[in-house]
Amino acid sequence: MSTATQSHTRTTSCTTAITEGLKHLLANTYTLYLKTQNFHWNVTGPHFHSLHGMFEEQYTELQAAVDEIAERIRALGCFAPGSFREFNTLATLHDASGTPRDMEMVKQLLKDHEVVIEQLIALMPTVQSLQDEATQDLLIRRTETHQKTAWMLRSTCGE
Ligand SMILES: [Fe+2]
Repeated sequence: MSTATQSHTRTTSCTTAITEGLKHLLANTYTLYLKTQNFHWNVTGPHFHSLHGMFEEQYTELQAAVDEIAERIRALGCFAPGSFREFNTLATLHDASGTPRDMEMVKQLLKDHEVVIEQLIALMPTVQSLQDEATQDLLIRRTETHQKTAWMLRSTCGE
């Protein structure tokens, strides 16, 4: 196969609804990972110790998720986006602006996890209809984890 044909094949097979959805999911998960680590570093106030620790648990989990989502994209034969430029284009979540107060950090993260849960649920019917069970399994596990994290954040800020 010529290089031109290979690159054509790659482009064609890598714009499916599933791989496009996974690229957006990767970008949002990476953005949320960075924001959670940012808050781990910069949180202040009387709840410092517990929030610093909770954010560390959350960004560590998100870091592992980023790797798993990217490698699922590779397993489907596509290249995974891996630059801030690409993530900025693909992500629907936004970076933190400035350094919010502690409970504002919790509320912002809660909102972001809820956005990712909606994104996961929206992608599910496509994955089911194409019978991609491995991706479906990944999406189910990601949904469960984001829902659990959202519950913890919701309970922390009393919303
Ligand atoms: Fe740390």
